[in-house]
Amino acid sequence: MSRVFHLDPPGRARRAEPAERVAEAPTAEKAGIVAGYLAPHPPHLIYADNPPQNEPRSTGGWDLLRWAYQEVRRRVRALAPDVLLVHAPHWITMVGHHVNCVPNPKGVSVEPIFPHLFRYHYDFRTDVALAEELVARCEANGLVSRGMREPGVRVDYATIGALHMVNPAWDIPVVSISANNNPYFYADAELDEMEVLGRATREAIERTGRRAVLLASNTLSHLHFDREAELPEDMSAERPFNNDQYRADMKLLDIVRNQPTSALRTAIPEHIAATEAETKSGSLNWLLASMDWPATSGEVLGYGTIIGTGNAVIEWRPGRG
Ligand SMILES: [Fe+2]
Repeated sequence: MSRVFHLDPPGRARRAEPAERVAEAPTAEKAGIVAGYLAPHPPHLIYADNPPQNEPRSTGGWDLLRWAYQEVRRRVRALAPDVLLVHAPHWITMVGHHVNCVPNPKGVSVEPIFPHLFRYHYDFRTDVALAEELVARCEANGLVSRGMREPGVRVDYATIGALHMVNPAWDIPVVSISANNNPYFYADAELDEMEVLGRATREAIERTGRRAVLLASNTLSHLHFDREAELPEDMSAERPFNNDQYRADMKLLDIVRNQPTSALRTAIPEHIAATEAETKSGSLNWLLASMDWPATSGEVLGYGTIIGTGNAVIEWRPGRG
């Protein structure tokens, strides 16, 4: 059948034997980090999505960001990863980097400021072998770290939010990593440590032979309104908190789109200083460090504000210029 669609080039009449074809398997099947996404988690996106796992109901809203996530879902499905690794700013651990090693986290995640929008029933699988290997690689690289093995600990909404938006079917195993800082108190003091956490992550993925997709669960500019519209999804009330915040986000995204990731080493801290960006929790630096700061630009799949904060959905693919 394939002869109909694929002609052998002149002088190469011999057809590959099956074993040779396996050896030439597409590179997309190789292990390693196959993609990384900036995957913001505001509860409004899940609320607007109306999944059966979330108790509140909405009439929609924030559609452009949700369309961006629909594209991420399509791409992740095509990549067929073994595991999703997520670093999230609202699982705060003041001592050390923690990795969720519970085989089957199950419970209800509630957003404490917006409980009327986000009460999400989760039930997912952890890639325990990779999670335990990550703890070991953190220790081998000199990081204070711990495996979290208490099944009753509630999973934070930033972890659940990013994972739901990327894979609402929850049919891909997960490794969830804490933020070893407090983004509400510190600025960018912990970003350097993300270099080490990233190296440990890359080593753990390589040692376990996984095909991995990484998710950095961060909003960009983070100043927001403190009054909600009567209908939370009233899009006539949605706009940037102020023009300075918007311009700072656009400056960062221009660098993301047009320069290799190395340019973000200085651009991210500058953006944090200008906008209180949630990236100060380290998730984005962890993602880029895990990918060893690839010499490629990112693809901005969508941008939109949520209660005034700036949110971008971005893909980085190693090896793409
Ligand atoms: Fe957040």
